[in-house]
Amino acid sequence: MAEDGVRRRDFIEIAAVATAGVGGLFTILPLVSQMAPSKDVLAESTTELDISALEPGQSIKAVFRKQPVFVRNLTQAEMDDANAVDVGDLRDPQTLAERTLAGSENILVVMGVCTHLGCVPLGAAEGEVKGEYGGYFCPCHGSHYDTAARIRKGPAPTNLEVPAYTISDSTLVIG
Ligand code: FES
Repeated sequence: MAEDGVRRRDFIEIAAVATAGVGGLFTILPLVSQMAPSKDVLAESTTELDISALEPGQSIKAVFRKQPVFVRNLTQAEMDDANAVDVGDLRDPQTLAERTLAGSENILVVMGVCTHLGCVPLGAAEGEVKGEYGGYFCPCHGSHYDTAARIRKGPAPTNLEVPAYTISDSTLVIG
């Protein structure tokens, strides 16, 4: 009997601790969600990158507002390829100049988010496949982007998005 009593008491204590634990969780969750940045703050956040070491032909992957962003220093040949295209033939007609900043046409900044269903295309890291047009390639359903990150083949409806950005000296600020 005494043993039973002890067991019952143990159970009551365990149940009380478990309830306190669950209660604690409910207390913490609203706190955590209050600490997370609001949508307004996220929408206003910027990404700053030093691009002084980015050589022609090199790319870097960064994160902008929780999404991948690709920055590429285009070679002269890549710019020539982009400028040789008849823009009227493009699905989403845009010139390289319209997708870059005047005086920094070699710096291409695009979101690393395929405009088909949102996969992250390849081509920004060394050794990655760049697709048939030398830009970016989304292997999910086979979208090929050219050296200006314009859609050239595959199901993606539009070019990779160019976010708002500025370049001052060697500092790139996205957002
Ligand atoms: S998500 Fe890129 S081709 Fe479908």
